[in-house]
Amino acid sequence: MEALALEKKAAMNQELKQRLIQLKKERNAIILAHYYQRDEIQEVADFRGDSFLLAQKAASTDAETIVFCGVHFMGESAKILAPNKTVLIPDERAGCPMADMVNVDGLRKLKEKHPNAKVVTYINSSADVKAETDICCTSANAVKVINAVDADEVIWVPDKNLGHYVQQHTDKKMIIWEGYCNTHDMLTIKDVVEMKALHPDAEFVVHPECRPEVVAMGDFVGSTTAIIDYCKHSSKQKFIVGTEDGTGYQLRLDSPDKEFIFASRFLVCPNMKVNNLKKLVQCLETMQPQIYVPPAVADAARISLERMLQVK
Ligand code: 13P
Ligand code: SF4
Repeated sequence: MEALALEKKAAMNQELKQRLIQLKKERNAIILAHYYQRDEIQEVADFRGDSFLLAQKAASTDAETIVFCGVHFMGESAKILAPNKTVLIPDERAGCPMADMVNVDGLRKLKEKHPNAKVVTYINSSADVKAETDICCTSANAVKVINAVDADEVIWVPDKNLGHYVQQHTDKKMIIWEGYCNTHDMLTIKDVVEMKALHPDAEFVVHPECRPEVVAMGDFVGSTTAIIDYCKHSSKQKFIVGTEDGTGYQLRLDSPDKEFIFASRFLVCPNMKVNNLKKLVQCLETMQPQIYVPPAVADAARISLERMLQVK
């Protein structure tokens, strides 16, 4: 961008930030942002986190309005856990393709085929699917959750890659759905080999939504928060990062003197990037779009989310 255009954008963002401060007070609002959001959103958020931390925060906040900067299923989970609050998202088109890969009909058929199995559903799923679920999980607690389930057989939806990773850490029989994250699944062995050749002194840290053969190359495997914590406390100086590029904001904030190289330039979730600062301010201005979950669905889905929050 030209210098003049950059200056103009900075001035506009400054105005937006001022308006945001006023609106937050007027609406008694809290802004929650996933680590995959644009920097300009993470910068103004009251709380940044991965799916698990944000669900916990939504369930416990005193604010009347939650602005959820993430994708639609995250806003839905917030509304389910905090049904009396107004939950806004900056742009309702921010969906998650993986969440759309499983539907209620398909899940019911699988349950009929495996009547003794319990259903463990990744939080990246619709409220309808959660309502058909015994317990939810996120990438941060997936192994703990599955091992806490009171059954030897588990139906796992929708992420096959995370499912494969979890299967290596449990004796339970897993029936794994064929969904995947378009962004993480794009990372290949070739990408990582090339990056390692360029940076032989770097450690490779990877999210379990990546393909099993890519996860197997990791020096460290973990959820977004686990990756951030690992890099912060590691004595290493350089990391090849195998997760979405928005994570760079928190990584650099925590460890300004360390170097983070993303394993591929395609590690960008276009759905997460639909939100921006302007839309964030606009949604608080208009109090739209709001998340709505039919009460009967929300009541059933809440049980599966609350069970997850109780797993220690
Ligand atoms: P976590 O937030 O659990 O790391 O999951 C990553 C993700 O893809 C969220 O959509
Ligand atoms: Fe969905 Fe993947 Fe984007 Fe997360 S990163 S919202 S799982 S598409």
